[in-house]
Amino acid sequence: MLHIDSLTKVYRRGVRANDGISLDVGAGQVTGLLGHNGAGKTTLLHQVVGLVRPSAGRIRLLGRDPVADPAYARTACSFQPQAQAPLTGVTARQAIEIVGRIRGGARRAVRGRTAELLAALNIEEWADAPAERLSGGVRRLTAFCMAIVAPGRLVMLDEPTNDVDPVRRRLLWEQVRALAAAGHAVVLVTHNIAEAERAIDQVVVLDHGRVVAAGSPASLAAGHEMRLEVTARAGGPPGWARTVHRDGDRLTVTLAAADAPRAVAWAQLHADRFALHPAGLEEVYVGLTDAPEGADRAPLVP
Ligand SMILES: Nc1ncnc2c1ncn2[C@@H]1O[C@H](COP(=O)(O)OP(=O)(O)OP(=O)(O)O)[C@@H](O)[C@H]1O
Ligand SMILES: [Mg+2]
Repeated sequence: MLHIDSLTKVYRRGVRANDGISLDVGAGQVTGLLGHNGAGKTTLLHQVVGLVRPSAGRIRLLGRDPVADPAYARTACSFQPQAQAPLTGVTARQAIEIVGRIRGGARRAVRGRTAELLAALNIEEWADAPAERLSGGVRRLTAFCMAIVAPGRLVMLDEPTNDVDPVRRRLLWEQVRALAAAGHAVVLVTHNIAEAERAIDQVVVLDHGRVVAAGSPASLAAGHEMRLEVTARAGGPPGWARTVHRDGDRLTVTLAAADAPRAVAWAQLHADRFALHPAGLEEVYVGLTDAPEGADRAPLVP
C-alpha cells in the first residue's frame, strides 16, 4: 500500500531529518515508528501526507505519488498530527462529525460511527461540552476519532497515546487493531514501546533519520531472548553473557534462552538477588539507539 524508497529530507540550515529511508507498509498491518526525539518520525509522516516536500527519494501510495498529487494524498490517507489542533466553538462530537462529512461520509453513517467511537473510547461524558474546555487526554482522543471517523486506506497517527490514561490507551489500541482488521494500513508513532509491542505487526526504528532496525517485534527481540538482572557480590561476566551492563553492583546481562539454566545456576552462586525475564522490544530499542556517536550503526534490516 505504501512504498517509500530512499526518502531524504534536508531542512534549511542542513538538518538531515530523514536520510535515505526505505520501507513498505501493507494493508491490514499496523506499523510502529519508534525513535528518540528528533529522530525524524514526524518528518517522515509529513512527507507522506504532503505537508513537507522530500529533498530526494520516492513515495508511492497505492501506486500513486502523494507529493505530486497532495489532493489524492488527503483522500487516501487520514492523519492525526502530533500537535494538538485548537478546537474552538464546537463540541468534540461536532468536530468528529464535521471531519467525517468533509471526508465524504453520509450524514447518518457519520453520526452512528461518531457515537460508536465516543462510546468505545469511553469519552461520551465530554462529547457535548465545548471543546476548548476538554482535558489534554480527551482532546487527544477526540483528535484520534477525527482521524478515524472516515478512515482513508492508510491511517497515520503521530503519538496518539500521548496524555491518554492507561485504561483509555487500551481502548485506543483496540481501535487501532480494528482498523487493521478492516483492511486499513496503520502507521503510528509512539514512545510507548511496551504497549506498542502487543499491538503492532511491524516495527521500524529510526535513529538520526535512518532506519536502524525493521521487522516484527518478535523477530527483533529474538536475538536477545532473556535478560538477567543480578546484584552480584563479585566475579567477571560469565561466558554465556551476550551483553553486560554494570551499574555499581547491579548487573544486567542478556543471554540466549538456551543458556537460562546456566544463568540461574550462576546467579544462585554469585548473586544476592536476581531476576530473569524475557527481553522485550524496549531493551532491543535501547540497545539499538544507545550507540555512542560515531559507533557502528550498521542497519539490522532483514
Ligand atoms: N520545519 C523544520 N525546519 C527545520 N528543522 C526541522 C523542522 N521540523 C523538524 N526539524 C528538525 O528535524 C529533525 C527531525 O524532527 P522530527 O520532528 O521529524 O522528529 P521526531 O522523530 O518526530 O521527534 P519527536 O519524537 O520529538 O516528535 C529534528 O532535528 C528537528 O529539529
Ligand atoms: Mg514527532
